[in-house]
Amino acid sequence: MSKFQDLMKEKFEKLKSQKDVTVLSIESSCDETAVAIVKNGREVLANVVSSQIEIHRLFGGVVPEVASRNHILAISNLYEEALNQANIRPEEIDAIAVTYGAGLIGALLVGINFAKGLSYSLKVPLVAVSHIHGHIAANYISHSELVPPFVCLMVSGGHTAILEIKDYCDIKLIGSTVDDAAGEAFDKVARSLGLPYPGGPEIDKLAKTGENTIKFTLSNSLKDTENFSFSGIKTAVINYLHTKEQKGENINKADVARSFEECVTDELVKKTFRAIEKTEYKSLVIAGGVGANSMLQAKFKTYGEKCGYDVFYPVLKYCTDNAAMIGSAGYYYIKNGKGLAELSLSARPSVSVTE
Ligand code: KG4
Ligand code: ZN
Repeated sequence: MSKFQDLMKEKFEKLKSQKDVTVLSIESSCDETAVAIVKNGREVLANVVSSQIEIHRLFGGVVPEVASRNHILAISNLYEEALNQANIRPEEIDAIAVTYGAGLIGALLVGINFAKGLSYSLKVPLVAVSHIHGHIAANYISHSELVPPFVCLMVSGGHTAILEIKDYCDIKLIGSTVDDAAGEAFDKVARSLGLPYPGGPEIDKLAKTGENTIKFTLSNSLKDTENFSFSGIKTAVINYLHTKEQKGENINKADVARSFEECVTDELVKKTFRAIEKTEYKSLVIAGGVGANSMLQAKFKTYGEKCGYDVFYPVLKYCTDNAAMIGSAGYYYIKNGKGLAELSLSARPSVSVTE
């Protein structure tokens, strides 16, 4: 181990018992470049995000190479902006937390390399954080009273899973999708309806004006499990649209959006509540971009109240990709002795939810 790495290990160990820990965090796994500064895992001193949505909308989805290039253009300015917003000097930073996966490899590498540069120049530990754990931690920022254990529904564009959060860094998988993530289904159905990228928020909006008139169904083979399958419903919607077109019949897009959203959210609610009933936990947490869905939030709140569970989801700006959530997760990694990375840290396109 190099002298530098020895020093980092020593500093990392000290942070475990240090009273106040300030983490500068970086997120660049997909189409948002983000930098944040978070104190003690819960207090956001700065949170800046540069979204590339408008750029990728032109292509109907994220173009990885374009994402990487735009991360490079944005990241230095965001770093400066975050320091200004927090009104602190670089020397006051105790650690750099960065998303190492899951995500687009070229996009992740931009954040990772910037983080390495900061770690080396500021001589503070580099902490490699899972994007998935970041989404869960977004709830710690939004709800000061929330502490593990709880059950979490992780629903994003890349993941859909029910997790048992035994402790900050002790996570067990209860169930997950066997094919598409829920967000992927939202995006693909939106695209087939001619809605712009990203499709989730568009479906959310359009569904509000529609009726649940079309009976879309989900795979029956998983009905008694805590696993999900969303590739079938995406195909069912596409087939429905094709049949209507071939017959020259009118398509009520709002009804399609509403019926699809009802079907997917019912499934997420049913399986998550079934999963928590099998545990002794009383808190249910939603994490990830699809967690911003208004129907999903409303159904979780209603069932939560009916069944006696406290339901939590992050405020909107922490639901979708941001760096504050990475700073929060990074803090709990530090306190649990997890995630210290070397300067050889590489990007990982996929990461298991429990890693
Ligand atoms: O967590 P996230 O920002 O990135 C990933 O880690 O994947 O999630 C992005 C996903 C996209 O599929 C997007 O369409 C979906 O979250 N999404 C929504 C809503 N807002 C974002 N899906 C449904 N309703 C929404 N309001
Ligand atoms: Zn995400």
